[in-house]
Amino acid sequence: MTNDLGRHPDFFIRDIPIFGRSILAPMDGVSDLPFRSLARRLGSAASYTEFINAIDIVNGHPDLARRLQYAEFERPIVFQVFDDDPQRIVEAARMLLAYRPDVIDVNLGCSAKCVTNRGAGAALLREPEKIGAIFRALSRALPVPVTGKIRLGWDETSLNYLEVARIIQDNGGSLVAVHGRTRVQGYTGSARWEPIAEIKKALQIPVIANGDITTAAEMEYVLQSTGADAVMIGRAALENPWIFSGLERSQIPPAVVQQTLMRHYEAMLDYYGPERGNVLYRKYAKRLLQPYNPERNELLNLLTAASPQAFQTLLSEFFNRFLAEPVLE
Ligand SMILES: Cc1cc2nc3c(=O)[nH]c(=O)nc-3n(C[C@H](O)[C@H](O)[C@H](O)COP(=O)(O)O)c2cc1C
Repeated sequence: MTNDLGRHPDFFIRDIPIFGRSILAPMDGVSDLPFRSLARRLGSAASYTEFINAIDIVNGHPDLARRLQYAEFERPIVFQVFDDDPQRIVEAARMLLAYRPDVIDVNLGCSAKCVTNRGAGAALLREPEKIGAIFRALSRALPVPVTGKIRLGWDETSLNYLEVARIIQDNGGSLVAVHGRTRVQGYTGSARWEPIAEIKKALQIPVIANGDITTAAEMEYVLQSTGADAVMIGRAALENPWIFSGLERSQIPPAVVQQTLMRHYEAMLDYYGPERGNVLYRKYAKRLLQPYNPERNELLNLLTAASPQAFQTLLSEFFNRFLAEPVLE
C-alpha cells in the first residue's frame, strides 16, 4: 500500500495507514481547524481535534458542529473525547460517527481540575478497571479504531503507565499516546521519555511519544531512543509549525514566516468571523513572532490591532525590516 506519492505507510492505526512520524498534539483552544490545517500541510501525519466533552455531545452543545468541522485533507481525523462515564462516552462516540471521524481517542491525560474533579482525563488513571470498561465498550460499539492518550500516572507513587497501556491494548484499543509526565506534575519539571520506551517494548499496538519535544533534532532523538512509532508535538508547534517538515525554526526565512502567518490569519477570520478571529489569532502571532524578539510596544500594537486591516498593515511594517538594505554606491 502506498499514498499518492508512492510512499509506504510508516505505521497503521488498526487498518488506517499513517504516512509520517510526527503529529500535532490535541490542544484545547489551539488545535482548531485552522491550526490543524496549517500543521497538516506542513507534514503532521494526522489531525487530532481539541478534546470534546461527552456531556456537550450528548446535550447537543450549540458550538459542537463548529468544533467538529474539519477539512477532508486532514484525514485521518481523530476526534478526542473526555468523560468519566463508560455508558455516556459510548453514547457520545456513537453520535460523533455522524461526522465521519477516522478514529475516536479518549483523553486519559488532562490535568486540569475542571476535568479531573469529575473523574475524567488523568483522574481515570486512578481507576484502571474503568479504563478497561471504557475501551471494551467503545471498541465493541464503534466501527472505527479507538485510541487513548495517557500520562505516566497520577503521581510519583502511582506510575501505572505499563498497566494502563496494557489495559488499553487488551480491551480493543488501537494506539496509545503518552505524555511523559504525571498528573501532579502538570506542566512542571521535564517530560520523561524512558517510560515511553518501556511501553513501546511491552505493547504490540503503536505508541506515540509526547512531551517537551522542542526541536526537529529532539524529535529524531525521541523516535530513536523510545522506538515509538511517532512523536506528538504540542506547544513547540506554535513557534515552529515547520517542525512537522523536519525543519528547525532557524531554517525558515522571514518571508515564509510572514506568508504562513497571513494564510493562517485569513483562515482564522474565515472560521471564527473577523471579530473573534482577529482576537483569537493573537496567541498564534505572539508565538510565531517570538524568535524575532520584538520590542514590547511593537508587539503590543500588533496584537491589539482593532481590525484585520490594521493588523495586516502593522505586520507588513514588522516584516519590512527583513527586506534587504539598499546597497549604497
Ligand atoms: C493549551 C493546551 C491545551 C491542551 N489541550 C489538550 C487536549 O485537549 N487534549 C489532550 O489530550 N491534551 C491536551 N494538552 C496536552 C498536549 O496534548 C500535550 O500532551 C502536552 O502539551 C505535552 O506536549 P508538548 O510538550 O509538546 O506541549 C494541552 C496542552 C496545552 C498546552
